[in-house]
Amino acid sequence: MQEIRIHPKGPHISRLVYGAWRMLDGGLTEQDIERNIQTCIDLGINWFDHADIYGNYGCEEFFGTVYKKIKSKLPELHFVTKTDIMLFSDKYPSRKVKHYDSSPKHIEESVNNSLRNLGIEKIDILLLHRPDPLLNADETGVCLDQLIETGKVSYVGVSNFTPSQVSLLQSRMKNPLITNQIEISLKKIDPFINGDIDFLYQQKIRPMSWSPLGGGSLMRSVADLQKNASSSEISKHEKAAPSLSQIILDLTEKYHTTENAIALAWLLRHPSGIIPVIGSNSAERIQQMAKSLDIILDREDWFLLYQAALGKEVP
Ligand SMILES: NC(=O)c1ccc[n+]([C@@H]2O[C@H](COP(=O)([O-])OP(=O)(O)OC[C@H]3O[C@@H](n4cnc5c(N)ncnc54)[C@H](OP(=O)(O)O)[C@@H]3O)[C@@H](O)[C@H]2O)c1
Repeated sequence: MQEIRIHPKGPHISRLVYGAWRMLDGGLTEQDIERNIQTCIDLGINWFDHADIYGNYGCEEFFGTVYKKIKSKLPELHFVTKTDIMLFSDKYPSRKVKHYDSSPKHIEESVNNSLRNLGIEKIDILLLHRPDPLLNADETGVCLDQLIETGKVSYVGVSNFTPSQVSLLQSRMKNPLITNQIEISLKKIDPFINGDIDFLYQQKIRPMSWSPLGGGSLMRSVADLQKNASSSEISKHEKAAPSLSQIILDLTEKYHTTENAIALAWLLRHPSGIIPVIGSNSAERIQQMAKSLDIILDREDWFLLYQAALGKEVP
């Protein structure tokens, strides 16, 4: 697996990261989780993305239960996790509303929980999950620096932050914010247009892309199109104005690959060094996605997909 340096002062990380958000969906067993971890390792994906809140505060613990059992047989794994979202959850019955808490007290508690749940001694990258309107940049900046200095966390970053929110927090810190994990995909192209990616690129901060397949909706549209391929009405329409799904399907033939790999190759082609965080619970699909690294989409193919995602020709 290729690696990429996430920031000039940050670590090299696997070109794809495996996300654990959906791990408790679909009744996965401990054996399934072990299989998916092993599949990732076999493919060279050795970075795992978590958050304290995933699975209603259950994913880190479930993953950690499996990981603690098999850790001694595995190569070193690396962990991203997140803090500051306070879910309105049965786990916290006294909470009145979903909110954010970027206070040092909450961040420290959350870090300690994540370390314990995952069974690790250090979090490789800690992200503030969502921008907190009540963020006290001075206090939170000091807290993040201290977590690095005390050795609980190696690096810090943010998620879903605008450029000005990144700049504000960074202005109060000694250590660099090494990534901003944002939603980027063929279903969510705004970051290419609204300046989010340009800003990160300019700052030499690699963006991590969450839901790189649009949370699966993109792939489900492709599958629907495949099912309806025999309908002449759809074929006529597709001929006149090929949809994003049709273009993805055409490109799977041209590049001898799967639709998952085409959608990820589109992100990987961007020079800012987008790092997709993949979220499939299927070992077969994880393997398909790793093939995206063997594909370099040619410029016009990239634009065919971009045009379809945009819904019109570029100006
Ligand atoms: N920072 C944030 O705010 C934030 C927000 C959301 C997510 N994340 C991170 O990003 C990671 C990835 O997000 P995601 O899970 O939404 O990513 P995704 O890769 O866009 O979507 C994964 C979903 O797509 C489905 N899928 C994939 N290929 C498919 C196909 N060919 N046909 C039908 N369905 C297909 C998967 O189903 P199968 O399991 O059946 O393959 C899975 O349900 C998360 O795990 C989390 O770590 C971060």
